[in-house]
Amino acid sequence: MSEYNSITVERRGRVAVLTINRPDKLNALNSEVHAEGVAALDELRDDSDVGVVVITGAGEKAFIAGADISEFAGETPMSQRTNFQRPTLFNSLDTFPKPVIAMVNGFCLGGGNELALACDIRICSERSKFSQPEINLGIIPGGGGTQRLSHLVGEGRAMEMILTGDMIDAETAHRFGLVNHVYSAEELEAKTMKLAEKIASKAPIALQLCKEAVKFSSRSNLDEGLRREADLFAICFSTEDKAEGVAAFLEKRKPEFKGR
Ligand code: COA
Repeated sequence: MSEYNSITVERRGRVAVLTINRPDKLNALNSEVHAEGVAALDELRDDSDVGVVVITGAGEKAFIAGADISEFAGETPMSQRTNFQRPTLFNSLDTFPKPVIAMVNGFCLGGGNELALACDIRICSERSKFSQPEINLGIIPGGGGTQRLSHLVGEGRAMEMILTGDMIDAETAHRFGLVNHVYSAEELEAKTMKLAEKIASKAPIALQLCKEAVKFSSRSNLDEGLRREADLFAICFSTEDKAEGVAAFLEKRKPEFKGR
């Protein structure tokens, strides 16, 4: 892996932990974090030894406290359009073929919440707080928040969060379905790694196809979704992992998946 300035990437077996590392700015997303995060995801995408990525924030206080507001001051409509024409962490995560878990360890605000929403599973500590506070800056969420939040928690709940900018606590986020699990701060990492390792032990191609099929469900109608699922299901039958998985079941042993 390359060395980065504003992020770190650590390999733990088949799990890669990508940490946004600007704790003095509560891990706010500046252009360097986006560029480095996109580059790191490119590396991790091509690394067949990595099955799952966990994204978190450095320090005890924040996952990510949003876009770096200091960069907003000099932005114009055209520069903002150009920013979104470059690869962002949001769209790199959206198209990333392997499962990504957001391990939310504190403030998860604005672009931070949008980044978590672009991941596949969100797990948080009890002291986490979530919001889309853009309205307080006189703007709207621009990293997918109006769309992904509504899909995940429902339009009414998303609308209230986005219109008020108010923070919700971890328990409310859990009730809304914004996070799958809430753990104490002490337990968060171990529980998240356990889940990540479990997923990373599964057949890599099937994981990728599961992700593609499930993500398609919020972007299509039922008929198109069922057709896509049937096609992806059929593709599984071309893999060595499918042959191994079925043989292992019949021979009453653990499968050894190779990602082929
Ligand atoms: N962009 C840039 N810098 C940020 C930031 C952001 N989104 N969020 C926090 N920081 C910086 C602060 O400016 C401060 O830097 P400084 O020490 O150089 O002054 C540092 O991080 C610590 O934050 P601070 O505000 O002192 O911590 P706090 O505990 O008093 O408050 C928050 C925490 C999260 C409530 C507060 O930082 C906040 O409201 N941040 C902005 C959240 C936001 O609106 N995000 C959406 C942007 S679209």
